[in-house]
Amino acid sequence: MERVSTGIKELDGKIEEGYPRNRTTLLSGTTGSGKTILGLHFIYNGCSDGKKCAMIATEETPEDLLSQAESIGLPLSKYYKNGVLAIERVYDERAEYIKDVLAFDITNIDELQSNIIGLLDRIPKDTEIVLIDNIGVFTLNMSTNEFRAQFDALIHGLAKKNVTSVIILDSASDERTGGIAAYSVYGVIKTLIKENPYTGSKERLIEILKMRNTKTQLDPIRFEVTSNGIVLLKK
Ligand SMILES: Nc1ncnc2c1ncn2[C@@H]1O[C@H](COP(=O)(O)OP(=O)(O)OP(=O)(O)O)[C@@H](O)[C@H]1O
Ligand SMILES: [Mg+2]
Repeated sequence: MERVSTGIKELDGKIEEGYPRNRTTLLSGTTGSGKTILGLHFIYNGCSDGKKCAMIATEETPEDLLSQAESIGLPLSKYYKNGVLAIERVYDERAEYIKDVLAFDITNIDELQSNIIGLLDRIPKDTEIVLIDNIGVFTLNMSTNEFRAQFDALIHGLAKKNVTSVIILDSASDERTGGIAAYSVYGVIKTLIKENPYTGSKERLIEILKMRNTKTQLDPIRFEVTSNGIVLLKK
């Protein structure tokens, strides 16, 4: 099976050299655990390989994401400027839309907040690499059933477009939707912050919960976020 680098060499080594090509990997995790940064490594690597990349930003502005990337040593802005990277401003649109809805018709709020399938139309033609950060915003008022149906349709649509994708889902939304997203995707990676019972200090962990067709380890991998981005720690 072909692979696409995660953008972190040591992490690639844990999953047979990268995310499975033309498949979707789910990236779940608690707040501040490093989901976006893990996603930015993937996007930066895709751009620097000359692949057409797209980010669907539902929780942050493109400016904030680019600035976050620069702060961890990933000069992503140049790819946004030269068009290799598209960033879909879903966050800005949600905010504008809500203002209008509140002004005119409050009953319409759900429509925009629940349109997961519509994200497929936001991906520019010939895109090879996609990051959706964070799909959880669409699940707030959705039944598990509806989420499963729309999420499956999204995964199916991404595969048809020959896209290698990482979809971020915050842990709270993942729990709310009964953890079912994990079943639809090819791989599941989790980031978390946990107290080390021996030292008493908090540490960041990556867990590879599943990766079909791939030899993986079940032990959590400790990591740090540095000015050079994510660095895996030994043991
Ligand atoms: N330049 C940096 N140097 C060191 N650590 C950083 C740097 N930038 C961010 N961090 C750390 O990374 C954390 C945020 O990581 P990230 O935004 O990827 O988390 P997240 O899981 O996406 O959070 P959210 O719930 O906000 O989406 C920050 O809280 C901070 O601890
Ligand atoms: Mg984030």
